Amino acid sequence: METSKLRVKGARLRASLEQMAQIGATPAGGVHRLALSDEDKQARDLFVRWLKEIDLTATVDEMGNIFGRRPGRNDQLPPVMFGSHIDSHPKGGRFDGILGVMGALEAMRTIHENGVQTERPLVIVDWTNEEGSRFAPAMVSSGVWSGALERDWAYSRTDINGKKQGEELERIGYKGPAPAKKWPTHAYYEYHIEQGPTLERLGKTIGAPKGILCLHWYDVYLQGEANQVGPTPMEGRHDALCAAAEMILAANTLPDRMKGNMVATVGEIQNGPNSRNIIPDKVHFTVDIRSWDDSHAITAWELLKKDFKEIAARRGTPIRIEETWRCPHAPFNEKLVQRVLDTAQQLGYSVHPMVSGAGHDASYMNQVCATAMIFVPSIGGRSHVEVENTTWEDCEAGANVLLHCLLTTANER
Ligand code: GLV
Ligand code: MN
Ligand code: MN
Repeated sequence: METSKLRVKGARLRASLEQMAQIGATPAGGVHRLALSDEDKQARDLFVRWLKEIDLTATVDEMGNIFGRRPGRNDQLPPVMFGSHIDSHPKGGRFDGILGVMGALEAMRTIHENGVQTERPLVIVDWTNEEGSRFAPAMVSSGVWSGALERDWAYSRTDINGKKQGEELERIGYKGPAPAKKWPTHAYYEYHIEQGPTLERLGKTIGAPKGILCLHWYDVYLQGEANQVGPTPMEGRHDALCAAAEMILAANTLPDRMKGNMVATVGEIQNGPNSRNIIPDKVHFTVDIRSWDDSHAITAWELLKKDFKEIAARRGTPIRIEETWRCPHAPFNEKLVQRVLDTAQQLGYSVHPMVSGAGHDASYMNQVCATAMIFVPSIGGRSHVEVENTTWEDCEAGANVLLHCLLTTANER
């Protein structure tokens, strides 16, 4: 059939997003749907039901990744894969991740109801625990699937309450039987909100990232000496929180000291015993460093680590550092990126080439096959927060770009 006129149904995409947004809805309009929580399970169950409604073969692998497969005319050919994630941050937004899954589903529904037969199979995917906020690191299950991370290490990762990722997978009934192991794949597309201000500022509808920055995560543990705050003089204290405060500011000034081309953030901290009248003796905090240049990020970390050790020694707060995770920067397949640019233009949408500062499962998929992403604007450039928002028109536009990228790519020999 003539497929160039096909378009997704924006109203149906909106309805699916709104229904998903009810699962873990927060009073301030966001979503709290942490990986492998009861809310994650509920959203997964709904997703699987929707896959089956359009005759997709649903499988779950041992990392809980959910795949929905539609056969191709030549079913032996490696498939085109596309999707994103269902989990959210604590008090996160209604679009991060889920737009890429519901947009992908909407493209599949459109293909299904129009009886379109593609040459290659199509596989929609929901990757488990993309955010990494409950169990570090992020993108862990595409990491295992691609062969970059080890399954048993992933299972052993614990949340703040000591729950293990593997056990939580089992608890919610999503430790599936299929091996989490890559298969030959022709191409991967991920549709996502931009999560930054660029598209909105430029008044563009579609972003075509040329790739994703590297992501390096570190965990820092400080040991101080707890004591009564009143009688203990200021001199001679070993205050772990004060040491952390100096370290956090050292991280904040790191990009300037490195002359840019990177960002550095401390986003999470635990302070113990966390009482107003006890000198803190146990602090844990995280460091996130990102750059397009992996070696620049590592040089920056070496400098910061030196700062941390100097501060810890001066304040008498022994330090332990874990180099938790490094995901290299991911330069996407140029042909596929160009296809996103061309497809957007053919559909009449304005488009802008850019770089992704946010991490995505597309990083690990880029190690498996030709990969590209499709971005739509984030209102006010806000993301990972409850006010995260994107217009319904833009949601629909991105899904149309995805649909037509899929049709072209799935008919490639
Ligand atoms: C993933 O959401 C990230 O932190 O970029
Ligand atoms: Mn995301
Ligand atoms: Mn995110």
